[in-house]
Amino acid sequence: MKVLGIETSCDETAVCVIETHGDLPDAKLKILGNQLYSQVALHAKYGGVFPNMAKREHAKNLVPLLEKCLTEANISKEKKQKISAEKNEKIKKILEREEGLFEMLEKFAEKIEKPDIDAIAVTNGPGLEPALWVGVSFAKALGELWNVPLYPVNHMEGHIVVASVDKVSEKEFVFKKIDHPAIALLISGGHTQLVLNKETLNYEIIGDTKDDAVGEAFDKVARILGLPYPGGPEISKLAEKERREFPDKETAYPLPRPMIHSNDLNFSFSGIKTAVLYTVKKIPELTGAIKQEIAREFEDAVVEVIILKTRQAVIEYGARTIVIGGGVSANKKIREDFTILARELGIELMVPEVSASTDNAFMIALAGYVNITSGKKPQMDFRAQGNLRLSED
Ligand code: KG4
Ligand code: ZN
Repeated sequence: MKVLGIETSCDETAVCVIETHGDLPDAKLKILGNQLYSQVALHAKYGGVFPNMAKREHAKNLVPLLEKCLTEANISKEKKQKISAEKNEKIKKILEREEGLFEMLEKFAEKIEKPDIDAIAVTNGPGLEPALWVGVSFAKALGELWNVPLYPVNHMEGHIVVASVDKVSEKEFVFKKIDHPAIALLISGGHTQLVLNKETLNYEIIGDTKDDAVGEAFDKVARILGLPYPGGPEISKLAEKERREFPDKETAYPLPRPMIHSNDLNFSFSGIKTAVLYTVKKIPELTGAIKQEIAREFEDAVVEVIILKTRQAVIEYGARTIVIGGGVSANKKIREDFTILARELGIELMVPEVSASTDNAFMIALAGYVNITSGKKPQMDFRAQGNLRLSED
């Protein structure tokens, strides 16, 4: 089966085609085409993501990315053709709010034949609603153009599912068998959640942040320290350097470990960010050496909290697997410390490939495939939902 995945929930525009063989749990799959355009450089100037700019950029980039992706996948055939007036009208209506997208898709449709695609999976939430809508409308337009079934996918489910495949060669993967129940820790720019996963596609949110998400805290602290956006990787680099240069140094800038005594599975990261702000205000000259020391202490504090809460969740629910996912799971220290935690608890750890940790369309195509093979029905009438949750609780 060939699935086209589309992702536009934040500042990455991405499309991917996967080809799967066999059924779960023993399915194999291959990435046929995988294209991503990151708007990071554009938003970096403003220190964060602007929803309307993200929306415009998605609309501009989706068709060129799709063309590239189909060519890469070797399923793009040129053929001059006329789209019926009736179909064209329908597509125009679907794309009426997405500036310039109809005109681009119309040109594309007149020169490229329907590719060999069995289903389209698209992120319909959570994320920035205007950005999500572009992907959703585009998927609906393609579904109409090609008569292909559509599957809305929860972005966070994508982050979980992508941790459950193992790379066997450059483009080939196999599904790992997940030993349930699993506890998934989702850490991204918008989310910090502990999720109980009792069986495939069954989720219960058992812990959540009361304020900032982990990635958001990384990005805000980076900004306070004068580091570029997105701050996560920058902080991580500095922290690593500090650990290498001064492995045993006790910090002169201690930060709190919020919520470690809260006796629940919730998080709070805004206090730690404020603590960094106060610390920095008191420092007469914020040198590179001090930034590096603060970056390490911040990363240590965050990792300590997420490790402690995950351990608590594993014990409370008798979990046999820990899954980590979301952009922040690209973090080296987090990967190392979770490896140690899983070993100590004697359970499995599932982590995505570093390159598939941050937003991409591969994870959406994968989650789409898992939904399809689990018997989910295609949908035509669905909305983009900025606050879409993994479970109704
Ligand atoms: O999942 P993602 O790509 O987008 C959302 O769905 O939010 O996550 C992006 C977040 C950003 O806050 C970014 O700073 C953070 O992931 N991030 C990292 C690292 N790489 C990305 N945070 C810490 N360490 C990293 N290496
Ligand atoms: Zn994400």
